[in-house]
Amino acid sequence: MKIHTFLLFISILKCTCQEFDPPDNYLIDCGSTENTRVDDRLFLADNLNSSILSTPEIIFVKTSDSPSSIYNSSLYKTARILNGSSNYSFPMKQRDWHLIRLHFFSFVSETFDLSSAKFSVSAQKFILLKSFRPPHGPVVKEYSVNVTTDNLVLTFTPSPGSFAFLNALEIISLPGQVIPDGTPAVNSQQPYTSVETQALETVWRVNMGNETVFPRNDKLSRYWLSDRERLINSNLVEFVSNVQAVNETRGYSEFIAPRSVYGTATKLHSQPDPNTIINVTWSFGVDTGFDYVIRFHFCDIGNRSPGPLIFNVFLNSGVALRDLDLSSKTSNVLGAPYYVDVITRINDIHNLSVSIGSSSVKNAYPDGILNGLEIIKISNSKGSLDPADAEAQTTKRASKTKVWLIVGLAIGSLLIFIVLAFLLVVMIRRRRRDNAVHSGEDHSIIMNRESSENSKYPQIGYRFPLMAVQEATDNFSENLLIGIGGFGKVYEGSLKDNTTFAVKRGICQSQQGHKDFRNEIEMLSQFRHRHLVSLIGYCDEKDEMIIIYEYMENGTLRDHLYGTNLPKLNWKQRLEICIGSARGIHYLHTGSAKAIIHRDVKSANILLDENMMAKVGDFGISKTGPEIDQTHVSTAVKGSFGYLDPEYLATRKLTEKSDVYSFGVVMLEVICGRPVIDPSLPREMVNLIEWALKWLSRGRLDKILDPHLVDEIEQESMQKFGETAEKCLAEQVGDRPSMGDVLWNLENALQILENHQRLKERNEVEQSVSIAQYSMGSLGDLENVPMSKVFSKMVKAEIS
Ligand SMILES: *[C@@H]1O[C@H](CO)[C@@H](O)[C@H](O)[C@H]1NC(C)=O
Ligand SMILES: *[C@@H]1O[C@H](CO)[C@@H](O)[C@H](O)[C@H]1NC(C)=O
Ligand SMILES: *[C@@H]1O[C@H](CO)[C@@H](O)[C@H](O)[C@H]1NC(C)=O
Ligand SMILES: *[C@@H]1O[C@H](CO)[C@@H](O)[C@H](O)[C@H]1NC(C)=O
Ligand SMILES: *[C@@H]1O[C@H](CO)[C@@H](O)[C@H](O)[C@H]1NC(C)=O
Ligand SMILES: *[C@@H]1O[C@H](CO)[C@@H](O)[C@H](O)[C@H]1NC(C)=O
Ligand SMILES: *[C@@H]1O[C@H](CO)[C@@H](O)[C@H](O)[C@H]1NC(C)=O
Ligand SMILES: *[C@@H]1O[C@H](CO)[C@@H](O)[C@H](O)[C@H]1NC(C)=O
Ligand SMILES: *[C@@H]1O[C@H](CO)[C@@H](O)[C@H](O)[C@H]1NC(C)=O
Repeated sequence: MKIHTFLLFISILKCTCQEFDPPDNYLIDCGSTENTRVDDRLFLADNLNSSILSTPEIIFVKTSDSPSSIYNSSLYKTARILNGSSNYSFPMKQRDWHLIRLHFFSFVSETFDLSSAKFSVSAQKFILLKSFRPPHGPVVKEYSVNVTTDNLVLTFTPSPGSFAFLNALEIISLPGQVIPDGTPAVNSQQPYTSVETQALETVWRVNMGNETVFPRNDKLSRYWLSDRERLINSNLVEFVSNVQAVNETRGYSEFIAPRSVYGTATKLHSQPDPNTIINVTWSFGVDTGFDYVIRFHFCDIGNRSPGPLIFNVFLNSGVALRDLDLSSKTSNVLGAPYYVDVITRINDIHNLSVSIGSSSVKNAYPDGILNGLEIIKISNSKGSLDPADAEAQTTKRASKTKVWLIVGLAIGSLLIFIVLAFLLVVMIRRRRRDNAVHSGEDHSIIMNRESSENSKYPQIGYRFPLMAVQEATDNFSENLLIGIGGFGKVYEGSLKDNTTFAVKRGICQSQQGHKDFRNEIEMLSQFRHRHLVSLIGYCDEKDEMIIIYEYMENGTLRDHLYGTNLPKLNWKQRLEICIGSARGIHYLHTGSAKAIIHRDVKSANILLDENMMAKVGDFGISKTGPEIDQTHVSTAVKGSFGYLDPEYLATRKLTEKSDVYSFGVVMLEVICGRPVIDPSLPREMVNLIEWALKWLSRGRLDKILDPHLVDEIEQESMQKFGETAEKCLAEQVGDRPSMGDVLWNLENALQILENHQRLKERNEVEQSVSIAQYSMGSLGDLENVPMSKVFSKMVKAEIS
C-alpha cells in the first residue's frame, strides 16, 4: 500500500463575519407543487420550467412513505422523473465555489419504481455519478464545485432503457474557507495540484465525542455523523463535551464547523495509566484510486492532563501530523478551534483508518484529542468522482523509482544475506532449546511444572506455544481484555478445565520492549512470594512478547479506589492491602543477596486476588540494586509519571528509597481516594502530592480524607497512616524510612484499628493501646526462601 501524504495548509481560523446570506441559494423540493419549509429554510416548489433546457417529459411522482432521515422527510415525498437527458441550468450571481446537495429516495409510486432508475449526473465538466443506482433509503450526495461560468449546468443522463430522478436539490454559494485552499504542499517532493480546478465530494463528515450534529444546527445544513460507530475500540476512548469552552475570540467561523462540533471530542483514555501508549482508530470505507483531502478539526476543550497537548495523527499506517502541539498552534488560547488539511492518496485498500496516538516527545503527557473529521474526495484526472472511473495505481513515479530500485537492490541483497545468517543462528539455537523444553508439537498449555523443571533452562519459567495462548484467549479477543498499559494489553485466558490466568501481550517492537520483556521473566522466575504476582509462563514465538501470570480476580487496587463503580474499600481493607503490598516490596528489597528495586510501584501495579489479598506485579523495569559496597545504581530515569522520586529524577541515582517514595504516593491515593493527577479538580488540587502534603504538614488529615472514609470512627490509625505517607514522600532520600519501617508503621496502625474495634465490640470503657509487635510477616509469606535467610531476617528484625 502506498500513501502519499501531503500537508496542504495549516491555519488558525481567521475572522469572518457571521452573517451569511449566500448570493446563490437554490433550494428545490423536486416534484412538489408547493413550497416545503424545512426548519428555517424554504424549499421551493418545482416549477423551474425555464431552467430546464430540454426534458422530453416532466413527470412528478408522490409517495406517502415517510422515510426516517437526517434531513426533513417531507423532502422525500415527491420526486421529479427525468426521462431522457436533461440539463438543469442555474444562473450564478457569483463565480465561486458552490455546494451541490442532491437528495435521492427511491420509493415506489403508482407509476414508477424509482429503485429501477439508473443514471449519471455531471456538473459542468465533472462527472459526479456514473450509472448510479440509488440504494434503499434516502441518500444525500454532497459536492463542491468551483463555478467559473455564468450558469451552473447539472446534467442528468439516464442509462439506456432507464430513467433518472431527483427528490430535492440544494445549490448554495460557499464561503471561502470551507474549501481547502491551494497553498503549495508541504512535506512532499511532488506538490499537489491545486484543488481549485477540481470538484470535491464529501464522503464522510464526522463529529467526535459520540454526538451527532444535525443539519438544523449547522449554518450550511451539513450533517455531522457521530463517530461512535466508526471507532475501532471504543474502550480506549473518553468522550468529552464542553461547548462553553470553545473560545471564539480569536476569530472563528461557523462555516468551518459549528461550535457543537468543536465543543465535543473523543480523546485518548490515558488517565488510568499515564504510561499508556495507545492509539484510537476510526475506520472509514472509501473508494480506491482517488486523492482525498482529510480535514481534522481540533479544539482543546479542557478535561485533560496537565502540560502541553502533543500527539501524533496517523492515516492508515503513515504519520499525517507528527507531534502536533495544539497549544502552540492556537497561541496558547485554550478552546480556540483549529483545523488542518492533509491530502492523501488511497490506492489499494478500501478502508481509511484515522488514528490519534500518544507522542513520544519528552514530557508530553500521553493524550490526544479529535473533535471533527471530514473526508473529501477529489476528482481525478478524468474529472470524475465516480468509483467506476477510478484510476489504476499511478505509474508516473516509475522513473524515479528505478534509481532507488537499483540502490535498494544493492542494499537489499546485503541485508537479506545478514538476515538469513541471523535466522540460521536463531533457528539452530531455538531447535536446541525446543528440544530441551518441550518436545513435539504440543498445543495445549501444560501446567505441569516438572516439564520445565527438568529442562536445561529452569530459570526462565515455562514456555508456551503461541497456539495455546491464542486458544486460551480466543485469539486475543477484545472481549477478554482486562487491562491496558504502556507495555500492551492484558487478557483473561482460560483453559477447558476453567483454570484462569492473565495474559500480558507486549506490543512494542522496540529493542526496549524486548529488554523489558526478558527482564520481567527473569525477575519473576527468581522469586516466589505470597505478595508478589507469580509467573506461570511466557511465549516468545513469532516475536510475540507474552507473559502469563496467575489471575488476580479483583483487578488493580486503583480500580477499587476511584474511577470505577466498584464498591469502595473500607479502611481496614485498605490498611491490609497496603500491608500486603509493603511486604511484597520489602521482600524484593531484602529477600535476596542483592536488593531488587521495583521502579514502578503504583496503585495500578498492585493487584488483588479473590480474597482481596494484595500482590505486587509488573516487573518490566525492575532492577537489581546496588552492590553491597555501593549506595546506589546510576541509570536512566524510568517509571510512572506522578510516582517518580524527585531525587532520582534529579540525580539518576536509583536506590530502594525510590520505591519507598512511590509507595508513599500509593498511600496517599489510598487515603484520599483520588488519582495522582486529576486535571478536573481546582488548580491547587490537581497534583495529589502537593495538595496532600500541604494539609498533612498542618496536621489536617480531615481536609484530604476520602469522603468514603469519613464515616469511619477510628481516626488514630488514619493519622498514623498519614504520617507514614508523609515520611515516605520526604524530599531527601535519607529522610525516608525503609520499607521495613513502613511495614512496621502500617502494622501498628492496623493494630490500633483492631484494638479499637475489639474494644468497641466488648463495649469496654477503659482504653488500652497495646504496642504493636514487629512482625516480619508470617512464614507463609516466604515460599521459596531458604530458612537461613528467614532466620537472618528475623534476627535483623529483633535488632532494629
Ligand atoms: C420538518 O420541518 C417542519 C417545518 O420546520 C417541521 O414541522 C417538521 O417537524 C419537520 N419534520 C421532521 C421529521 O423533522
Ligand atoms: C415557465 O417559463 C415561462 C417562461 O420562462 C414563464 O412565463 C412561466 O410562468 C413559467 N411557468 C411556471 C409554472 O413557472
Ligand atoms: C420515456 O421515454 C421513452 C422514449 O424516449 C419512452 O419510450 C418511454 O415510454 C418514456 N417513459 C415514460 C414513463 O414516459
Ligand atoms: C446539456 O448541456 C450540454 C452543455 O452544457 C450540451 O452539450 C448538451 O447537449 C445539453 N443537453 C441537452 C439535452 O440539452
Ligand atoms: C475558481 O477557479 C478559477 C479558475 O479555475 C480560479 O481562478 C479561482 O481562483 C477559483 N476560485 C477559488 C475560490 O478557488
Ligand atoms: C453514545 O451515544 C449513544 C447514543 O446517544 C448512547 O447510547 C451511549 O451510551 C453513548 N456512549 C457513551 C460512552 O457515552
Ligand atoms: C478567549 O481567549 C482570549 C485570549 O485570546 C481571552 O482573553 C478571553 O478571555 C477568552 N475568552 C473566554 C470566554 O474564555
Ligand atoms: C471497512 O469499512 C467498512 C465500511 O465502513 C466496514 O464495514 C468494515 O468493517 C471495515 N473493515 C475494517 C477492516 O475496518
Ligand atoms: C499507532 O498507529 C500507527 C499507525 O497505524 C502505528 O504506526 C503505531 O505504531 C501505533 N502505535 C501504537 C502504540 O499502537
